[in-house]
Parts: sequence; structure tokens; C-alpha cells
Amino acid sequence: MSNEKSWQARISQATDQLAQGFVESISYDRRLYRQDIAGSIAHATMLAQVGLISVNERDQIIEGLKSIERDIGAGNFTFDQSLEDIHMVVEAALIERIGEPGRRLHTARSRNDQVALDLSLWIKSEAIEIGRKLHDLCRALVEMAQRSGDIVMPSYTHLQRAQPILAGAECLAWCTMFSRDADRCDRVAAGNGFDDIPLGSGAIAGSSLPIDSTISAELLGYQSSPTSSIEQTASRDQALEFLFALSMAAMHLSRWAEQWVIYSSTEFSFIKTADRYTTGSSMMPQKRNPDMLELIRGRCGTVYGDLVALLTICKGLPIGYNRDLQEDKRVLFRAFDTVTSSVTMAAAIVGATDFVAANIEPTLDRGFLDATSLAEYLVTKGIAFRTAHRIVGSLVARCEREGKKSLSELTINDFTQAVAGAGADASKVGADVFESLGARNVVRRYRSAGAAGGEPYSRRLAEWKQRLGL
Ligand code: ARG
Repeated sequence: MSNEKSWQARISQATDQLAQGFVESISYDRRLYRQDIAGSIAHATMLAQVGLISVNERDQIIEGLKSIERDIGAGNFTFDQSLEDIHMVVEAALIERIGEPGRRLHTARSRNDQVALDLSLWIKSEAIEIGRKLHDLCRALVEMAQRSGDIVMPSYTHLQRAQPILAGAECLAWCTMFSRDADRCDRVAAGNGFDDIPLGSGAIAGSSLPIDSTISAELLGYQSSPTSSIEQTASRDQALEFLFALSMAAMHLSRWAEQWVIYSSTEFSFIKTADRYTTGSSMMPQKRNPDMLELIRGRCGTVYGDLVALLTICKGLPIGYNRDLQEDKRVLFRAFDTVTSSVTMAAAIVGATDFVAANIEPTLDRGFLDATSLAEYLVTKGIAFRTAHRIVGSLVARCEREGKKSLSELTINDFTQAVAGAGADASKVGADVFESLGARNVVRRYRSAGAAGGEPYSRRLAEWKQRLGL
């Protein structure tokens, strides 16, 4: 009896072994056992409250479900593949343990609303988890910013030297991205518009029995009963939004990993990661490879794949539940596991990495990093920015022609002549021009909100420390 499927009365033959192995989901949806049991406890509580089962039956059901949860948690439970999925496995075990009352649990319920509920509960709790892990990564980045003190480094646009920045400001940039990812996960965890409980939708059309899903909604943290029983059982939109949040986090992780692969190359040598997070080559004895970073970058591709997989699974489905939807869990679990391990790995690597000032700072006089600062200095002397831009451009060209490595090798006369030569008023240009030159000076002069140095940076660092409890 126990491993006869609930629908066996209608289907005359036992399921073929091959078919059974093909349709089963218990091998991976057992992961939902806690959610499945929580949903069933709420359902039984509701059924008793509206008088569809007795209080005594409810208590036996809840007791039985809790014992199943304990046994699964302790590893003392055998999952029978012939029962297909976690919903049937738990129900069959309940009936075996408590008998007749167990046969009443599935009143006004289908696996279609049950699985939608289980998945929704799982998403809400795991979104909190991943949000926490992303915050750990943010903390590691802010700590790195603090460790980096006042290391000045070049920033890059188009991977060409741009303006000088504090190394810590780049840490805060990554921190900002990952913190937005955490916020996105927190919104998923809070429901983000998916506030109506799927349970109570039945198979597709609801039920003629007097159930009250507001009771189960309240018990399970939803704001209302189902808005549309058809939509609730047919849609995986909440899973897709979580997958999108995971994909965004994976994209940021990949981008950060790529940055650090570049920074750890011999050509850059801007960062040094502890040896325990690098690997060697089987042939080239000198190698220190950033394999963990490369895998974080590469695995982003599988997360995108999972998002696109579920979008594609859903795109051709007629409305109502279709078994295709069972595949949702495979891709969602995989994407979640991938991002979870990548975030955890990333936080560990950040904690074991430092900027190498000795390699970065001697290169600061390359690439005329202070050119924009000089143009802004001229603006403070009343010169139009476009004119200032042209003046500095011609000074940079002149330095290059004369083999001068930096603008500070020019004399005060060179500056005033260039200004006058452009038809602008050079009377206010003086020796203070040199305060706008040199990467270290430039970084101190930043004033705009969110800038990569100066007072705005210090303020932002203090804010992050406070926000992340450091
Ligand atoms: N294992 C199924 C899934 O994950 C549960 C729902 C099955 N419903 C059905 N009518 N066959 O989607």
C-alpha cells in the first residue's frame, strides 16, 4: 500500500522502471523537505480551523510530520524513488506512521499548489542566506580598503590609464555592487510582490471545499490568499526573479574576478593573494595561477545558463501546471549553489589579498594621470573647460615630444605660455599649479560626492564601516 502511488486507482499498470527514473524528482527535491512539512502543518492547521478535519486528526498529522522531519534531518529516512517526489514521499510516510488521519491531509490540495508553495518558501529563506553571504563579501572589501590605507593607484577606462584613485575606492566600488546584489536578494526574500500564498490553489481551479487560505497565508508569512489559482500553479515568476538576482551577483563576481586576474598578472602585479588561494602548473614550475578567480568568472556562464533555461522552459507552456515545471528546481538549486560557493570563495580571497604599493606607486608617473586635474585647475582660474582641455592636451603632446614623463617636469612659464597661446587669460596661473599635479596631490583634491579620493572617499569609507558593523 505504502508505495502505491496516490493516483494508482486510475492507471492500470505500474510505472515502467525507465519511466520512473525519468520522471522522478525526489533525488533533488528532497532538499525541500522542511518547506514541504511546514506547508503541510499550516495546511492541516487550516483544515482543522474550518472543520474539514478534527483537532485530534490535526494533532496526529502535525506530530507525524514532525517525526518525519526529525528523521530526515537525522539521516534516518529512506527516500523511495518510486514515490516520485518529496510531496508523495512525505505523505506516504505520514500515512504509514499515523494511518487514517494522514489520508485527510491532502484535502483541497494538489501537488501543483504544494510544489509552488515549497519552492516559494525555499526561495524566500535562501535569498536571505545569499544576501548574508554577499554582505560578508562587502565586509571583506571594506576591510581591504582599510588595509590599503592611502595607496594611490591609476584607474582605467578602456583599460587605458585614466585618473589617479585611492586603491580603497576601487574596493568600495565592488562593495557597492555586491551590496546592491544583497539588497536585491533581500527584496526577493521579502516577497517583492509575490505576497499571495500559492497554497489553496489546488490543481488549477481551486476547490469547492470551504478552505480559508488566509489562515495558511498568515501562518507561513504571506499577506493574502491566492490571487489567481490558475496563475499560481502555472507560474515560476518568483523563481525567475531569484535567478535574475543570482545572475546579477554572478555577473559582478565574474567582473571582479576578471579585474583581479589582470591585477595579479606579472604585467600588473598590483595585488598579491596568499599562496593558499593560488594553484601551480603541472608543467611550468614557476606558475602561480588564479584558478579560483577563473572558476568564479567561468561559472557565471552556468548561472546565466540556468536563468535562460528556466525562461525557455516557461516560454512555450500552456497555462496551468505542466510537468516541464519540475525542471525549475534543478536549475534554481544549481544556480544558487554556484553563486553561494563563488561568493564564499570571493570573500576568502579578498581577505587574503593586498594591494602591492611597491609595484603600483612607481608607475604613477606614467600615463599623465594628472591631466584632468590640471584642466580643472585652469577652470578655477577662470578658463573655460573646453579651452583648458585643449591647453592640457597640447602640453601632454609637448611632453611626449620632448621625452618628459610627466606634466610636473614643465616650468611655470611653460604653463602660462600655453594658456596665453590659447588666447586665454594667464594672469591668475601661478606656482600653485604644481599642487594640482602628481597623482598623490590629485587624489587629495577630489571633492565631488562619491569621488575616488579626498574627503568624499573618507566619508564613504566611514559610512560603509558603520553600515556593515565594522
Ligand atoms: N514533482 C513535481 C514538480 O516538481 C510536483 C508536481 C507534480 N504535479 C503533477 N500533477 N504531476 O513539479
